Amino acid sequence: MDRVVVGITGASGIPYGIRLLEVLKQFDVEIHLACSSSASLVNKHEGDGRSWKEVLALADVVHKNSNLAASISSGSFKAKAMAIVPCSGTTLGKLAAGISDNLVTRAGLVMLKENRPLILVPRETPLNMIYIENMLKLSRAGALIAPASPAFYNKPKTLDDNINFIVGRVLDLLGYDSAIFSRWEGSD
Ligand SMILES: Cc1cc2nc3c(=O)[nH]c(=O)nc-3n(C[C@H](O)[C@H](O)[C@H](O)COP(=O)(O)O)c2cc1C
Repeated sequence: MDRVVVGITGASGIPYGIRLLEVLKQFDVEIHLACSSSASLVNKHEGDGRSWKEVLALADVVHKNSNLAASISSGSFKAKAMAIVPCSGTTLGKLAAGISDNLVTRAGLVMLKENRPLILVPRETPLNMIYIENMLKLSRAGALIAPASPAFYNKPKTLDDNINFIVGRVLDLLGYDSAIFSRWEGSD
């Protein structure tokens, strides 16, 4: 069974992370989850009424962000891929600087050193030069930068359509073909 690591940090866009957990569950995947404390704080403002405990229950294994001895903190733990959804500017900065002071950043940097897929979904606007340079640095280091910028060519009717578009694209990058969004089929 594949093992996929999901990190949720304290940027706006927690519903993307939660939806990712929900859809990943439909695949034959063991989901390992680590969340920053800011993620649960932001969830209080953005959540759909579910408690943080209910969100965590969507994963198979929940790791404490302070536990740097967790399985996912080592390259010898064979994870297929990791996605940090959403990825805050703080976490982006730490990753770009090689700082692994919590489990999300440690697991992310492990993915890079092992040359395994690391998908980052930053959410900020406008972007200052520091964020832009950090994204460039991480892209050069092998991370896939997938900003939370939904498309409109698929004619979204609800917020859920936009969430599914972003999560569907992240799932593509993780290697899972979901039917939760409409793909561009071409035009004359
Ligand atoms: C309601 C709320 C919304 C936030 N939105 C963002 C955001 O969109 N992007 C961002 O980079 N930080 C955002 N922040 C700030 C981060 O939570 C903060 O920088 C924190 O240090 C992130 O730490 P973490 O990476 O460990 O989760 C937000 C904070 C709050 C309380």
